[in-house]
Amino acid sequence: MSKPHVLVIGSANIDLVTRVPRCPKPGESIIGLSFSTVCGGKGANQAVAAARLGAETYFAGCVGDDAFGALQRETLGREGIDLSRLKTHPVESTGTAVILVAEEGQNSIVVTPSANYGITPADIQDMTPLIARMDAITIQLEIPLETVEAALRKARELGVLTILDAGPAQKVPQSIVEVAGIVSPNETEAEAMTKVRVESIEDAREAAFRLMHQGAREVVLKLGKMGALYMSANEWFHVPAYEVKPVDTVAAGDAFTAALGIAWQAGSPLEAIRFANAAGALATLKEGAQPSMPAREEVDRFIYERGR
Ligand SMILES: Nc1ncnc2c1ncn2[C@@H]1O[C@H](COP(=O)(O)OP(=O)(O)OP(=O)(O)O)[C@@H](O)[C@H]1O
Ligand SMILES: [Mg+2]
Repeated sequence: MSKPHVLVIGSANIDLVTRVPRCPKPGESIIGLSFSTVCGGKGANQAVAAARLGAETYFAGCVGDDAFGALQRETLGREGIDLSRLKTHPVESTGTAVILVAEEGQNSIVVTPSANYGITPADIQDMTPLIARMDAITIQLEIPLETVEAALRKARELGVLTILDAGPAQKVPQSIVEVAGIVSPNETEAEAMTKVRVESIEDAREAAFRLMHQGAREVVLKLGKMGALYMSANEWFHVPAYEVKPVDTVAAGDAFTAALGIAWQAGSPLEAIRFANAAGALATLKEGAQPSMPAREEVDRFIYERGR
């Protein structure tokens, strides 16, 4: 079987993570406990996941002409990801997330998109031949919405599957919901899109139903330790999560989305969602975003051992 071709269109950020005893009050200075610089951004995370899961992976986005941009290129390049569609912004800096991880629990995060907004509908137009060759495209909402819509529309014209990871949470225009192949929010994103608070499978079904009513063609809701829920015009079903003891659930959703893109064409929606649930579960077993993305062999072994 040939490798699936997956294009990820989205954000690349550098996470600047400081561990602190507690978050400072306005005007206050405190001493941090440790600091690290980690590659992140939903787009870059999904590209790393897709590459490790065995896809021929392309990443389209925009970084700054700075050291963080160079770090992203180097990190993504090391995963074997094609970066010919990763732009460098002439003035804006690479996107950052400044994260305070407080010992007492609450985290504070400031995301500054900067160069991520440099990928435009014109870039999508330029990518037409590449898009036409893809088996799947995954896309998130950390880049301009007009670019998201242009990409979804172009892929639809060309008959290419798209998966819209609806993060970060926001009210998503109906014109985007309608043109996406698969609309895939997590619980908070689903609430932002439908006003249904998702705390049970019943709630998830109601939220998915409302997304269908907004014009979605297929919906895959990510439900954390409850697994996932699928809905189309013909059917709906819940796929329970694998039971694991999570260490850090950050970017489980990115592993899930990438896995869904890889597996969707190969079998039924149920099989693809099981594969994605396994990738998501495995991502919770290691700390960090990109370091926790599982390899194809790990997912296959996990599914074999768990007997689906
Ligand atoms: N605690 C868990 N136990 C088992 N599987 C999990 C757990 N958390 C997440 N998963 C798997 O990963 C998938 C995606 O996780 P989740 O619903 O948390 O996405 P998310 O909120 O978008 O995550 P993020 O945005 O942090 O990457 C779930 O649908 C599930 O399959
Ligand atoms: Mg997510």
